[in-house]
Amino acid sequence: MISFVWAEDKNHVIGINGHLPWKLPNDMRQFKDVTMNHPIVMGRKTFESFPNGPLPKRLNIVISRNPDYQVPKGVVLISDKEQLKNFVKADDEVMVIGGAGIFKLFEKDVDRLYLTRIDHEFDGDTKMVDLDYSQFELVEKKEGIMDKNNIYPHTFETYQKVN
Ligand SMILES: NC(=O)c1ccc[n+]([C@@H]2O[C@H](COP(=O)([O-])OP(=O)(O)OC[C@H]3O[C@@H](n4cnc5c(N)ncnc54)[C@H](OP(=O)(O)O)[C@@H]3O)[C@@H](O)[C@H]2O)c1
Repeated sequence: MISFVWAEDKNHVIGINGHLPWKLPNDMRQFKDVTMNHPIVMGRKTFESFPNGPLPKRLNIVISRNPDYQVPKGVVLISDKEQLKNFVKADDEVMVIGGAGIFKLFEKDVDRLYLTRIDHEFDGDTKMVDLDYSQFELVEKKEGIMDKNNIYPHTFETYQKVN
């Protein structure tokens, strides 16, 4: 099964200058909870945005068109989505974590969405793909708790594809 995991602002912005536009530790925690022990699939630029390298306790799968792109030991490099099945089990929940091009690539395959909606407008250069929400139903919605470290209103939503 393929799931998307991402956070977006009011205008569907997801990134700026190769990074997240916001600091929201609650979303980092949610991301960790949702992806832990699952394979994560990401574009080369998202992989390079991690300050401390591959994310632990998750198989990191990086997509690049460059077959010579160097990844650290334990990280899997693929050049198209057909190769994914060689590295994941049929019953894995595979977490596609962006960025925009990779969400586009898996748009037709996705079954579940884990979306953090941030109720704020940020400058950005990367936006989430336009998903057809009529194909999904909202199965869970949880308000994020604001505090001095989490200053933007945010909501965690989970959608499931309707068959
Ligand atoms: N808010 C969020 O939840 C969230 C999530 C993820 C990322 N982001 C942000 O989004 C930005 C990065 O996203 P992005 O869209 O610019 O880049 P990206 O999707 O992370 O990476 C793009 C790269 O992926 C490879 N790629 C893309 N499509 C491919 C295909 N069809 N086949 C093979 N390889 C392919 C290419 O790598 P090569 O150039 O090496 O060929 C391409 O340059 C950053 O600002 C990041 O912080 C935000």
